[in-house]
Amino acid sequence: MKDILSQVHKRTYEILASEYEDRVETLRPTTEKALSDFTNLLAPGSKILDIGCAVGYTMEILAKNGMVVDGIDIAPKMITYARRRNPGSHLVVGDFLEVSYPEHYYGGILMYAFLHLFPKDIALECLDKSISITKPGGLIFTGTTKSESAREGFEIKHDYKNEVKRYRKRWTQSELEEVFNSRRLKIVHYAEKTDEFGKIWMDYIVRTEK
Ligand SMILES: C[S@@+](CC[C@H](N)C(=O)[O-])C[C@H]1O[C@@H](n2cnc3c(N)ncnc32)[C@H](O)[C@@H]1O
Repeated sequence: MKDILSQVHKRTYEILASEYEDRVETLRPTTEKALSDFTNLLAPGSKILDIGCAVGYTMEILAKNGMVVDGIDIAPKMITYARRRNPGSHLVVGDFLEVSYPEHYYGGILMYAFLHLFPKDIALECLDKSISITKPGGLIFTGTTKSESAREGFEIKHDYKNEVKRYRKRWTQSELEEVFNSRRLKIVHYAEKTDEFGKIWMDYIVRTEK
């Protein structure tokens, strides 16, 4: 499943890269607010990894807020946009679960609209890998859409011009919080927001054990 999903993601997000680029300015105000809640809790100059960084506008916002930001994305076209926006940053085209990172290296991890791309077991693998590369006492930001019932599977999203099939794990709030508790991640910030396209998001900032 993991390999198939990697191929699907690579193909899907190559197709969607220019649409993601076109949406940046619409999404910027809510994203800037959400990310300032994150950077306000981090020391200036903290190293952050943006996982599934797409066109790199979240990296750009983090860097403007004084962070040193690396990015990874599985879709080469996404990284082309991200490089244009963040010429000095370390950017990798690759599958997060396959690329090696030093243990306890990052002060912060950003997983924005990322954990819902995978079946629950693979999403948990991504979260566990993120924990292992975060410094003790570091912060992980996860943002995902809010669902009333837990379910998952392939779906066609109709809010993009390119109606490609995507995998979606729909998280409920209690399910996600149970996962954080089971990993001893302390919730230090929670915000619910409606984005510019009417979707309700659950933004969590959690702290790893010291
Ligand atoms: C829903 S988009 C979110 C992008 C961005 N974080 C944002 O909030 O705008 C998910 C991104 O994750 C990337 N992606 C999917 N699977 C990945 C993987 N296994 N490793 C790295 N990136 C991946 C996709 O190419 C896509 O750009």
